[in-house]
Amino acid sequence: MIAQEFSTALPRFCALSALWGLCYFERMATIKNLECSRCHKTVSAGSPQTLCPECSGSLYVRYDLQPLRGAAARDEMVRQAAAEPWSGLWRYRPVLPEAKPVTLGEGWTPMLASRRFPNVFLKEEGANPTGTFKARGMALAVTMARHYGLKKLAVPSAGNAAGALAAYAAAAGIEAHIFMPKDVPFANYVEAMVYGANINLVDGLISDCGRIVAERKQKEGWFDISTLKEPFRVEGKKTMGYELVEQLGWEYPDAVFYPTGGGVGLIGMWKAFAELEELGWVRPGKRPRMVVAQSSGCAPVVRAFEQGANVSQMWQNAATFAAGLRVPKPYADYIILDILRESGGIAVALSDQQILASLKDWAQHEGIFLSPEGAAATAAYDHLLATGFLKPSDRVVLFNTGAGLKYTDVTAEAMGLQRPAN
Ligand SMILES: Cc1ncc(COP(=O)(O)O)c(C=O)c1O
Ligand SMILES: [Zn+2]
Repeated sequence: MIAQEFSTALPRFCALSALWGLCYFERMATIKNLECSRCHKTVSAGSPQTLCPECSGSLYVRYDLQPLRGAAARDEMVRQAAAEPWSGLWRYRPVLPEAKPVTLGEGWTPMLASRRFPNVFLKEEGANPTGTFKARGMALAVTMARHYGLKKLAVPSAGNAAGALAAYAAAAGIEAHIFMPKDVPFANYVEAMVYGANINLVDGLISDCGRIVAERKQKEGWFDISTLKEPFRVEGKKTMGYELVEQLGWEYPDAVFYPTGGGVGLIGMWKAFAELEELGWVRPGKRPRMVVAQSSGCAPVVRAFEQGANVSQMWQNAATFAAGLRVPKPYADYIILDILRESGGIAVALSDQQILASLKDWAQHEGIFLSPEGAAATAAYDHLLATGFLKPSDRVVLFNTGAGLKYTDVTAEAMGLQRPAN
C-alpha cells in the first residue's frame, strides 16, 4: 500500500520537478502581503511593488507561515533538499515566493571553521555565482521580475550587484541596465560586459548612480531594483540567516559580523531570525549580536550608531578599497540602526590599513583570500576581541561577502604591487 502510494506520488513529483527545474514542496508558505517596515501599511504582492505608497519605507514580504510550523516541516525541507542533486538557497523554497526560480547555483555556501580561533566560523560567500553574496538577492529579484513579466531592470551598484544582475538577467532573458562608479574593481566591468548588460559608468558614487536611475526610469520603462527599494532582494539575502542557523545545528551564534554598505544582508538575516522563531525551527535562545563593519573612509552607519541617531547622514568624499562599502547613505539606515540596538550589537569602522592587514593575515594563516569587505569583518572581529566586547569563547560567524579574486586590481594597488618587468 505504501509502495503504491509512493509510486503514484513519484510521477507527480518528477513532473513538477521538471517543470520548476527544482524540487516541489508539498508544504509552502504563501505570501500574505507586503508590509511597510516603517508605517506597517500593507500592499498586495499581486503586482510588482517598489516602496511603501504612504511613507516610502522599504517593504517586507510577509507569509502565512502556519503550515510550516514545527520541526516536522523543517526536517521535511532538509530531506527534500538532500534528495536533489543541487538546491542551493532553494532548499528554503517553502519560505520563499512561489515562482519558477532563475538559478545559477547560488547559496548553501561553506561555513568554514577557522584554523586558529575555535569559535570562529567564516561564511564563504565568494563561492556564489559571480563570486559574491549579491547573487542571492539578484536570484530572487530576477525570479520575481520574470514572474511578473518585467522586461527591463535597472540598478545602481557599487559593482557586485551590477555583475550579479547582469548574470541573472542574461539567464532570464531580461534587459539589465546597470549604473556603477567608473572606478569599480575591473572585474565588475568585465563581467557586466561579458554578460551583455547595458553598462553606464558614472563619475561618482552609488548615490549618484541611484539618482540617475530615479530620474530616467519612468521614461525608459525600467523597473528599479535598487537596494531596499524593492522587496525581493531581501528575500534572497535572508537565506544567509536560515543557512547560518541550519549549519550551526539550528542554533544561533553569539554574534554575526557583516560588512555593511546598503545593509540588505543584515536586514535579511534579521528577518530570517524572526521567521525562524515564528516557525519554531531554531532552538530557543538569544538572537546574535549583529556587528556592522565599515571602512573608516565611508562609515555613515558607525557615525550614526555612535551618535545615537535613528538615521545616517550622507558621508562626504567616501573612499575605500573595499568598494562594496562605498555607500555614503544607506536607504534603509533606520532599519540597520534599529537592528543594531535591538540585538545589542555594535558598528565598527576599520581603516583600509587594518582591512588590508587582516586580508593578508587570513590569506597567509587560513588559506582564504578574502574580499576587502570580508576583511573588514575579520578586522572588526580582532578589534572587538581586543576591546573586550567579545570573548574568545563567543561563537561568531564572519561574513566573507565576496571572493578576493574579484579584486586583484584594487588589492594589488593597496599593496603597492606591480607586475614585475621582464
Ligand atoms: C563584496 C561586498 N560586500 C558587502 C557589500 C555591502 O552589502 P550590502 O549593501 O548588503 O550592505 C557589498 C555591496 O556592494 C559587496 O559587494
Ligand atoms: Zn510606510
